[in-house]
Amino acid sequence: MSEHFIHDDDRRGARQPERFDPERAARLDDPARFKHLPPEEVARMLDLPANGKLLDFGTGTGTYAIELARLRPDVEIVAMDEQPEMLDRLRAKPAAALLPNLKPVLASQIATFKEQIDRVLALNVLHELGDEALRTLHALLKPGGTVLFIDWNAEVDRPAGPPANHVYSPAEGRTRLEKMGFQIEMERLFRYQYAIRAR
Ligand SMILES: C[S@@+](CC[C@H](N)C(=O)[O-])C[C@H]1O[C@@H](n2cnc3c(N)ncnc32)[C@H](O)[C@@H]1O
Repeated sequence: MSEHFIHDDDRRGARQPERFDPERAARLDDPARFKHLPPEEVARMLDLPANGKLLDFGTGTGTYAIELARLRPDVEIVAMDEQPEMLDRLRAKPAAALLPNLKPVLASQIATFKEQIDRVLALNVLHELGDEALRTLHALLKPGGTVLFIDWNAEVDRPAGPPANHVYSPAEGRTRLEKMGFQIEMERLFRYQYAIRAR
């Protein structure tokens, strides 16, 4: 097994090294999120190939994984998180049980997906990912695969998300990803978030 698939609590390199608190999970299910970041727009930016495989890295309660699985029944959506409590919340959603293409998976199983994934989504999680997690994420991609990072923008006043000093500006996000060896092919600003697609 590659060293990139040893799962531990090494968060070196993350702007916010503390783990996401499951006590705050209900905020991830706020429907207002879809107004400022529509799932259809996320699907468009992902540019999902027909019958492909998407891995939602740090899916939380699966808010967007569920919508993507609905929008694209031909795509297998691997909803991955390191915290079993988060996946329990995802599985408890009635919508999740109705989607045969949605597969909740614990981060400890991630090695099985090495070089198997067409698209990775990393939504509101870049600021929590250490360098090792970013290497793990990169190793999931098939040749030609891409990853879409979307995270809170430190430069705008926001009604939600972590404090500004826990997240990146778009330029800082880009610099961090480039330093980690990602090649950036698209950048876009949303009202409260920035998006970067890379390979
Ligand atoms: C802020 S929440 C965002 C959840 C989801 N992407 C969303 O936007 O609704 C971040 C999630 O990423 C998970 N996470 C953080 N680091 C991770 C890692 N290295 N591997 C897997 N999951 C991780 C946390 O447990 C948490 O559920």
